[in-house]
Amino acid sequence: MKKFFALLLSLALMATLLVGCGGGDKETAKTDDATKTETKQEEKKEEEAPAASESKTVKVGIAIYKFDDNFMTLYREELERYFKEDLSNDEVTYEVTVVDGKNDQAEQTNQIQTFIADKYDVIIANLVQSSAASTVVNMCKDADIPVIFINREPTAEDLDLWDKVAYVGADARQSGTMQGEIIYDLPDHGDLNGDGKVSYVMVIGDPENVDAQYRTEFSIKALKDKGVEVEELVAQRGDWDQAKGQEIVAAALTQYGDQIEVVFCNNDAMALGARQAIEAAGRVVGENIYLVGVDALEEVVAYVESGHITGTVLNDHVGQAQTAADVAIKAVNGETLEKNYTVDYVKVTK
Ligand code: BGC
Repeated sequence: MKKFFALLLSLALMATLLVGCGGGDKETAKTDDATKTETKQEEKKEEEAPAASESKTVKVGIAIYKFDDNFMTLYREELERYFKEDLSNDEVTYEVTVVDGKNDQAEQTNQIQTFIADKYDVIIANLVQSSAASTVVNMCKDADIPVIFINREPTAEDLDLWDKVAYVGADARQSGTMQGEIIYDLPDHGDLNGDGKVSYVMVIGDPENVDAQYRTEFSIKALKDKGVEVEELVAQRGDWDQAKGQEIVAAALTQYGDQIEVVFCNNDAMALGARQAIEAAGRVVGENIYLVGVDALEEVVAYVESGHITGTVLNDHVGQAQTAADVAIKAVNGETLEKNYTVDYVKVTK
């Protein structure tokens, strides 16, 4: 009987111990679960609010009308440099993609579609054809992606299509006027042969482009406004291109020879071509012919210094590129945009 009670007692003890242990296990399990939940919550918190050191990425899509353009090459290089080196910091990284429209509007429109499909935050567009602006604005508006036009000015109506659209450029009337003034400021006002009028050749960029239209018009207007009589011998389209500039001026020199007193080029690339043609024809800039361009490419500025080109006008690609990037960031941040941001031209003479 004693043995029986002893057995009962030890069984009871064991049971208590077992229950105790079981409870302990549960306790531990509970604590583990709680830790897991806490960790999960912490992870979630991290996802919601990135740690201070984590940087935000802003995707910038830049569509250039064609890479093979002296001025736009300088412009796009500065845009990339400025976004990457000056604007990116610990908090925000600008991921910049630049594409070559190859002077083909259909191709460029596709490139912009791809930026939209890839959910870029902002698009900077140097259109192949300014007339494509309304299509591009509507595409961007549908996707709610701001678009900043550069270099080729859209119409005021196109800019009015949406409030997240702006144009950054320079007023081409100013550059044309400055070209005319550079000629007017010469001692003979451009009338080298003293026949009472300035006979000129005009090498035009792309006539669809307002830069070409205004420079052509305002360079001559500046002379006329000062009372100078002018005579147009040749006015031809050179598509902003050096080789075409050379061809046009070579042909004009063959046809009109000494009658030509001034060669106006809508840009410096074409002025470089004109300079080659002038030299090949045995004419001397500053002595028996004058030559002006626009852009102030480094090479042209050197020719202005040495007297091989009469003058040029600085088309400030640094100022324009930085303004375009700053405006793009304003747009990404939801700030109100102006329609036009204009950078001044500067006359460059010896
Ligand atoms: C520049 C030209 C350039 C053109 C491209 C003009 O503002 O002066 O050199 O070819 O823009 O659109």
